[in-house]
Amino acid sequence: MAQFTWGAAAVADRLELGCRGAHSGDVTEYPLVAAAALAGVSDPRVLDAVASVPRADFVPPELAAEAERDRPIPIPHGQVTTQPSLVATMVEALELTGPERVLEIGTGYGWQSALLARLAVEVWSIERWDDLAARARMQLARLGVTNVEVVVGDGSEGVAEHAPYDAILVSAAFPRVPAPLIEQLAENGRLVQPIGRGGDEDVVLFRKRDGALERVRTVAEARFVPLVGRQGFAA
Ligand SMILES: C[S@@+](CC[C@H](N)C(=O)[O-])C[C@H]1O[C@@H](n2cnc3c(N)ncnc32)[C@H](O)[C@@H]1O
Repeated sequence: MAQFTWGAAAVADRLELGCRGAHSGDVTEYPLVAAAALAGVSDPRVLDAVASVPRADFVPPELAAEAERDRPIPIPHGQVTTQPSLVATMVEALELTGPERVLEIGTGYGWQSALLARLAVEVWSIERWDDLAARARMQLARLGVTNVEVVVGDGSEGVAEHAPYDAILVSAAFPRVPAPLIEQLAENGRLVQPIGRGGDEDVVLFRKRDGALERVRTVAEARFVPLVGRQGFAA
């Protein structure tokens, strides 16, 4: 990515995470729906969700003016909210039709959680930082979202007590899918995860068949923050 509006090099470094590896064009002057469509997202339910959830409510208030740009935005603890068109691409790959129960690993500030809430019946979202989880919870409640439960913990272990899940979305990178997530995914369930060491990933769609995970396709190339936890990278 060539330019950043926030200037500082450290912030620019962070903004290299949570975004696509290769841009097909500059989409920053378009609204987020146009950016998602330009990235290849065509599911009307996903595009409608992108249109319906105000991203400005899910970024730090001082960066709200940047919320409608198709860019990652820094949040505390050196994390970022993922680039909106990339979120839309990952969510679309889950092929949600409405009745699914979804597990999201890495809540961040909760914009993706709010999209998932519009597309599935029940969402469990787990975040390792309690202040990020609290902020996401607060904003989801303010928007009247009642079908997302945000918990604090190590998402690399999944959330076993509410498994199985029809879909799992992992928002942080690790070279393989953690075993507990495979276990907690329902048969025929779909899982999307950035596969890599953090900073240069293939975002891969998997499906569970006969108890094993099958790689379906790469849905995007991107740079993600690492998955930190017992089944991920050491803190
Ligand atoms: C790129 S951010 C994505 C946030 C959000 N999903 C979004 O789209 O804006 C990745 C998040 O994963 C969280 N994370 C990393 N490892 C985790 C783990 N083991 N369990 C739960 N959350 C984790 C980070 O703290 C960070 O908030």
